[in-house]
Amino acid sequence: MPGVARGAQLDRLMRPVHRWVWGDVDRRLRKLLTFADVETDGGRDILRAAEVTPDPLLRRLYLEHAIDELHHGDLFRDRGAALLRGRHTHRRLLFNGNPLPGGHGLDDLSIDGEPDHRLLAFLHVAEKAAAGRFAIYREMVDDDPETRAIFEEILRDEVFHMNYTYKQLTRISPQAYRRHVWHARGRRLWNRYLRVAAAVAALIGNTLLTAMYFVLLPPFAYLAKRDARREPTGWMPTSRTRHTTPRSQY
Ligand SMILES: [Fe+2]
Ligand SMILES: [Fe+2]
Repeated sequence: MPGVARGAQLDRLMRPVHRWVWGDVDRRLRKLLTFADVETDGGRDILRAAEVTPDPLLRRLYLEHAIDELHHGDLFRDRGAALLRGRHTHRRLLFNGNPLPGGHGLDDLSIDGEPDHRLLAFLHVAEKAAAGRFAIYREMVDDDPETRAIFEEILRDEVFHMNYTYKQLTRISPQAYRRHVWHARGRRLWNRYLRVAAAVAALIGNTLLTAMYFVLLPPFAYLAKRDARREPTGWMPTSRTRHTTPRSQY
């Protein structure tokens, strides 16, 4: 699919950011290791889908899909580990990987209780997005033929996943497959919004707490210190009107 091979329009616009992320070896290897976890988790979830689906054809396709995703996880992990072995210093980075959304989006996948049409629509949208991103990432690692070869291999699989999920969706839900795809797109967008909103809320919360620490706390600390200086030091005589025995605990 030529559109997929070029990447999504938004991702094409974000090309300079992608180039910044992939241009640094430390960021690159962190990104690869993050992809490895997402692909492996996605593979396990799709394996679960193969267990619970009542449709024999889907069971076989889900199984193949899960094997592909687990293989992708291994490819990313091995490449990330190879880059890690080649590094002598480990810098702390401003962003742990990429400030942009991840490659696959399978981390939002939930299986239990989901009918096949919803799952297929979700997978189709996620795989299409992944194929678009991996097409761009492939260009970003031109200087690293081994990583580029991994993206090329994975991209072929993601295009197959994108196509088979759509075809199966039209088979099991011929009347409403378009609606399911739009619904899946809406849910994906909503999940993205929630993530961004949570990140912004965390940023605002951290900023406010830091401001409170440096603005509100110092006057109280000063007053506490001043009162502490006014307190007499050493032993103090007890009041004669006090009738409690000194042997009492309280
Ligand atoms: Fe994958
Ligand atoms: Fe995939």
